[in-house]
Amino acid sequence: MRTFRLQLRFLLPLVVVLVGAAYLALPIVDQLTLRWFARDLGLRGSLVASSLSESISDALQDPKGRKLQQLFNRVVEDERLVAIGWCSPLGELLVRTPTFPRDMSCADAERLAAGADANLLVRGGRVHVTAHEVTAESGPVGRLILMHDLSFIERRSLDTRRYLIAMIAGLGVIIALVTMIVAQLSWRGWMKGTRALLRGEGLVRPLGGGGSPELEPLAMELRSRLRDLEDEYRRGQSNGDAHWDAQRLQALLRTQLRGDQVIVVSNREPYLHEHGEGDTVIVRRPASGLVTAVEPVMRACSGTWIAHGSGGADREVVDRHDRVPLPPGRSDYRLRRVWLTPKEEQGYYYGFANEGMWPLCHVAHVRPVFRESDWEAYRAVNQRFADAVVAEARSDDPVVLVQDYHFALLPAMIRRRLPRATILTFWHIPWPNPESFGICPWREEILQGLLGSTILGFHTRFHGKNFIESVDRYLEARIEHEHSVVSYRGEETFVEAYPISIAWPTPEEEAAKPSPAECRRELGERLGIPSDHRIAVGVDRFDYTKGILERLHAVERLLEKYPQWQGRFTFVQVAAPTRAVLEEYRAFRARIEAVAARINERFGAPGKEVVRLLPQHHEPDDVDRLYRAADVCLVTSLHDGMNLVCKEFVASRDDERGVLVLSRFAGAARELPEALIVNPYHVEEVADAIHRALVMPVAEQRERMANLRSSVREDNVYRWAGRMLTDAARWRLRERVSERVQRHGEQGRTGTTG
Ligand code: F6P
Repeated sequence: MRTFRLQLRFLLPLVVVLVGAAYLALPIVDQLTLRWFARDLGLRGSLVASSLSESISDALQDPKGRKLQQLFNRVVEDERLVAIGWCSPLGELLVRTPTFPRDMSCADAERLAAGADANLLVRGGRVHVTAHEVTAESGPVGRLILMHDLSFIERRSLDTRRYLIAMIAGLGVIIALVTMIVAQLSWRGWMKGTRALLRGEGLVRPLGGGGSPELEPLAMELRSRLRDLEDEYRRGQSNGDAHWDAQRLQALLRTQLRGDQVIVVSNREPYLHEHGEGDTVIVRRPASGLVTAVEPVMRACSGTWIAHGSGGADREVVDRHDRVPLPPGRSDYRLRRVWLTPKEEQGYYYGFANEGMWPLCHVAHVRPVFRESDWEAYRAVNQRFADAVVAEARSDDPVVLVQDYHFALLPAMIRRRLPRATILTFWHIPWPNPESFGICPWREEILQGLLGSTILGFHTRFHGKNFIESVDRYLEARIEHEHSVVSYRGEETFVEAYPISIAWPTPEEEAAKPSPAECRRELGERLGIPSDHRIAVGVDRFDYTKGILERLHAVERLLEKYPQWQGRFTFVQVAAPTRAVLEEYRAFRARIEAVAARINERFGAPGKEVVRLLPQHHEPDDVDRLYRAADVCLVTSLHDGMNLVCKEFVASRDDERGVLVLSRFAGAARELPEALIVNPYHVEEVADAIHRALVMPVAEQRERMANLRSSVREDNVYRWAGRMLTDAARWRLRERVSERVQRHGEQGRTGTTG
């Protein structure tokens, strides 16, 4: 209706203009017709004169002129001739019909006939005057003045006017109809085009045809400019000097995301409730890089965290909706626990996630195992988490942060149920090259699931590139490499690198820490390490990707190659138990224990072991004291998305002492070049690096550590979350504009307002 009214606003003036033009044109048309008729009447007059010439010559024989009079009277009975006058060669009016104007002389008639406007009024009717010479054999005998009736011309002219007006009106209606149809079609076309453009499909023809080929270059150019601007904006944001902290993240949520609901989904929960002594319930923080990074963000966001409730006493502390406020005693956010049966946990977590995806993505020389039953369980559990997200969503467009390889199918499942949600998926582990990824029997489904995300984040550009190449290899998707955007089945996913990090300690937290010397003394006392020993530490889960075995070989080689460290060096390895249900992990742990025992046998003595293996869970404060007590921290992952242990070590050393030895295969190596970067597979190189760290002058330690600290302080976890959420906010804005345009278009078509 609204479009129709809009079109009426355009059409009415058009009709008025057309009718006006018709009225202006009519006098001109009248004049033209008159002129044509005058010419015709002139010819007709000549014809009448010549056909009468013989009869006139005969009638002239009558000297009284009666015959001529009778002849003329007869002739004017012709309805087209009004009057006739007969003039002598001397211009004297000799005979005239009664209708001939009394006061008109021959000279007057001749003048009139010769003039441009040979018309005059006779008895209220218009006549046209023509004069013709009549000749006999003897020569000219006189002149015939004929007065032709013009009323029939006026009648015809009236008819012509009517036809003309009817024709113009008809034409107007046709033009109006055509205009309305064309306007409707082009409005729809433009609306469709604009919506497609804003959706990011643009007017560019999607795979399989369609679209407007002639507009392709324009649309491409337009979209490319928009993306350039967005990229520029994003670069400006990420390179910005502004410091990121919890307050800034909160401000971002308040302003750019207008307090929208944030839902985090991860397999691992941020706190586990376990049974303690007697009837007590204790709270434990799991050894997880994911939890280390996401928990402080969640405190700032005050949202809902959905995770698998895996603690022994978890069910005892939740409310009837399976929710528990966290962190303990503060209630900054709430945890919604999802319960899994042992069978589900076996298939989804141990099976598909940790025997399939984990080795597949880490390429750490452990074969992935893919079982159909695990895949079924993985799919079913992803669906259960999607249901939980829908149940927890307070609106149809929450911001959902999906974490890690446990949930590759979840983004598309959420997208199906909450199409307006902004889904940020972060993949915490590496993404392999397309060949390696290709061995997964469900590679297409995994990629399709992840492409349900609005934004898909990796730690490094390299992993993002591997993902895009995998999509390119196994799916029919359109990829804009320049802008890192994948379009699949009408939806876009922005693939970007967001290096994860840790929350930098506040001055109050730093002030509350025991000094490094105290930590050192305490550790020495606890483990019986002599005070003159140099200490290296490693802090990991008992996982084959962490390079713990290679590290032990390097320690052994150090003691062989640099015997001065024998009796003066201790290596403390914290190895949190993990996934012990799996044979691969149990065998790995046994191997580590065997190698540690061998080294201790070679270079130590009972109570003076070189390698101190601590295979228990350690709370964050305990780990922090260990970092502060150490001279060297060894991070030798064979392949790691990022690795946060190295960043935690750096953050703990406010005394700017200690040396970090870091694997080049950890994502963190790209951000922390002041560490001693090593190839963990090269035992000799790692042994040399440990030696170099042990002998490094204090000034060099300070310089390196100061630089490392400033990097981690700035690129902290709030920047990680802030960059992702800023991109999400930008995306949501774009979607909202797009929806508004779409709504406007639909209202335009249906005629509704609002
Ligand atoms: O490295 C990826 C990651 O999800 C880490 O965040 C976490 O440390 C680990 O894998 C998962 O461990 P778990 O299986 O014990 O949750």
